[in-house]
Amino acid sequence: MVGCTLWFTGLSGAGKTTVANLVEEELRRRGQKVESLDGDVVRTHLSKGLGFSKEDRDTNIKRIAFVCELLTRNDVIAIAAAISPYREVRDYARRTIGAFVEVFVDCPLDVCVARDTKGLYKKAIAGEITNFTGVSDPYEEPESPEVTLHTHEEPPEASAAKVIGKLEELGYIEAVAPLDDVYTEAEKEELAKRLADLGYI
Ligand code: ADX
Repeated sequence: MVGCTLWFTGLSGAGKTTVANLVEEELRRRGQKVESLDGDVVRTHLSKGLGFSKEDRDTNIKRIAFVCELLTRNDVIAIAAAISPYREVRDYARRTIGAFVEVFVDCPLDVCVARDTKGLYKKAIAGEITNFTGVSDPYEEPESPEVTLHTHEEPPEASAAKVIGKLEELGYIEAVAPLDDVYTEAEKEELAKRLADLGYI
């Protein structure tokens, strides 16, 4: 097994964590060693005390990149999911880590605002939170990400499948034949019946 870093970048509420969690689950299911560094979680310990100025965000990203590099060189698939709004420091992470797969979670700002999963956009628009990415702070889109996901147009499972497909294509994980190539219709029915009997589906 070879390690790499999957780097999710995108606006708050774009779906980075949701898709990253599904990808992590699938990689574990395949027996892959995987570790996640989620922006919101990292900011409760590794980056505790950092704010949202450019300097603090860059420090946050460099710390995440540092850990991802350690994991990657030990054959783990590291998954980073932070807004990481600045191109320069994302490219620094790419250079430092080497085996780097950038996943641009491209969801329009108005959709993120409408979702407002954490109620932060409302506060940012009201001016109660300053330097909020997309509202009062910049987001620099990746120029050539390995994967671009349109999370407003497809379910998270489809986005996760695209990421897994890219990892297979790049040779970081082994390609798994789709179910259709493995089972006949009759076998699929039998399998579904057995899983239903066991209460799994
Ligand atoms: S990053 O810019 O340094 O990459 P990170 O992903 O760690 O950001 O943290 C972003 C999360 O912090 C958001 O999802 C949101 O929950 C919260 N947050 C609080 N204040 C801000 C802000 N000013 N801009 C963006 N996110 C903020």
